[in-house]
Amino acid sequence: MTQPRLGVPDLGIGVGLRVPHYRHILSQRPAMDFFEIISENFMVDGGKPVHHLEQVQQHYPLIQHGVSLSIGGPEEPDPAYLARLKQLVRRVQPAWLSDHFCWCGVPGAHLHDLLPLPYTWEAVERVAERARRVQDYLEVPFALENTSSYMTYSCSQMSEWQFISEVAERANIGLMFDVNNVYVSAYNHGFDPHEFIRSIPHERIVQIHLAGHTNVGKYIIDTHRGHVVDAVWALYAETIRYTGSVSTLIEWDDEIPEWPVLAAEAEKARHARDVALGRVPAPLPARSAAAGERQAAHSASHGGPRELAARESSSLGAAVAE
Ligand SMILES: [Fe+2]
Repeated sequence: MTQPRLGVPDLGIGVGLRVPHYRHILSQRPAMDFFEIISENFMVDGGKPVHHLEQVQQHYPLIQHGVSLSIGGPEEPDPAYLARLKQLVRRVQPAWLSDHFCWCGVPGAHLHDLLPLPYTWEAVERVAERARRVQDYLEVPFALENTSSYMTYSCSQMSEWQFISEVAERANIGLMFDVNNVYVSAYNHGFDPHEFIRSIPHERIVQIHLAGHTNVGKYIIDTHRGHVVDAVWALYAETIRYTGSVSTLIEWDDEIPEWPVLAAEAEKARHARDVALGRVPAPLPARSAAAGERQAAHSASHGGPRELAARESSSLGAAVAE
């Protein structure tokens, strides 16, 4: 077990801070280890966003997650954006901050999407150099997240896991490891999610994301909708056995449920983490847990994420109905 990683603490189990839950969080102060905010939603001088932020901050640790740095884009990260981000870092004082291995547009056109990078040595150097500078400038541990993707580049020279590992090592930054994104991309591109998990520098993983997705048969869309599926829970347990106790967050951004549903998903993550670490005994093989383990074991022995995901439609249905 590797710990603590890059000097950042294990904050426990958290969820994304989302508007529909503000009233409940501020009036009831429900138990939650930490919240993750989307940086761009709070990069303003005042008003309601800052008011809510300051209220939540009084009672919970916050970390920041960004969506528009565009670290691999054709242009350098926008200095004005970075200045506003640094202002927010000073206000929030997060233990770390993250964005994505992606690009978001070209000069004059921000596409508001997390587009995949070509996995080339040239891109490794460009992203690593920028990531190192961003971390130095922001003066806070910085991590980049593996994205979900729907296309690849014929010019790529390495796997996604080799790419993110090379960048993280060269830039001396952390990895925000999104287990659902590994599953989604493994399904869409036909690679082995276990090889991805096995091959990255586990000591650099500062946070894990878990989320639901939408399987439309030919491919999976990373919707952040619904429960985490059994197969992703199994990959999460596998990851935790490599990393030790890492801060874990549930992302639920579409059809956002009532607070108790989200809180229960976070508790499920806590239990899964505790079981993976041997802190609590494994539960008796309940239907869904057993199905997840069977899927993982099947995939490990038979190789393909397609086989693993082929059973997902039934387990997804069961999970949503829970
Ligand atoms: Fe994520």
